Amino acid sequence: DARIRVWPDIGDPSDITFAVVWNPPSGFFADLDRLAGVCVMGAGTDAILAKGEIPESVPVARVVDPVMSNRMAEYVLAATLRFQRRFDDYALQQSRQEWQRLPQKDAGSFHVAVLGLGQIGRLVAGRLAANGFKVGGWSRTAREIEGIECHTGSDGLARLVSWCDLLVNLLPLTTQTRGLLDRDVFWAMPVGGGIVNCARGAHVVTADLLQALDTGQLSYAMLDVFETEPPAADDPVWSHPRVHMTPHVSSITNIETALPQIVAAYDATRAGRPMANRVNRKQGY
Ligand code: OXD
Repeated sequence: DARIRVWPDIGDPSDITFAVVWNPPSGFFADLDRLAGVCVMGAGTDAILAKGEIPESVPVARVVDPVMSNRMAEYVLAATLRFQRRFDDYALQQSRQEWQRLPQKDAGSFHVAVLGLGQIGRLVAGRLAANGFKVGGWSRTAREIEGIECHTGSDGLARLVSWCDLLVNLLPLTTQTRGLLDRDVFWAMPVGGGIVNCARGAHVVTADLLQALDTGQLSYAMLDVFETEPPAADDPVWSHPRVHMTPHVSSITNIETALPQIVAAYDATRAGRPMANRVNRKQGY
């Protein structure tokens, strides 16, 4: 029974009490003076919060969906196996008509670090561990997860990074995590390590990553997210032999499971009840 207007045909902005958004243009919220709630159609809210346009008094919720978490776990598992089983090295050999068996680490001695242990990160870490990988995790607040060695703080990050063969980034993008994955991190990793980034492009200092790949300090980057999407035509990520790209598809929103959450957020707002999965505006996620 809601009356729905699809932007930009929203009629009188002061009719609007609830907004369902992903990455709205600047100024979108300016005239929505009766706005009582916002629901983001995805997991990450950085793009919306960074603009600082939603009044503090207006609650923001996001979609927390087991289907999306599962999609992410599949993607990360595939990216991990691709690196651990050296598929890209063999593809390179094939292009040179080379037939050579390369040394191989079994999952049980292959160390994967998962940065970010929220709803999605926990499931991803568990899926990797269930497939026999040694998994460590890092999060802002201390966590206890069976079978996962959990770390926190900058000492914890340093310990985890120097231990891992593969670093998987699932962190929310905040002022604390922007640019976190830089040369200090890449050079603290064991030589020849890899990175999977499924969070946000701005977590990674791309020039540092490319240098780490060029020098052999790292040997694998599976990137699903970029600071500019798609990257500019002359961005070296397109053609770097050690960079593998997907177009921000690691965990796309599933309409069937997201929709009931969005409707519930709307219903709660209309009834004056708190929405589920509300974003902590101070924390930034
Ligand atoms: C999300 C995303 O945050 O798709 O949902 O990146």
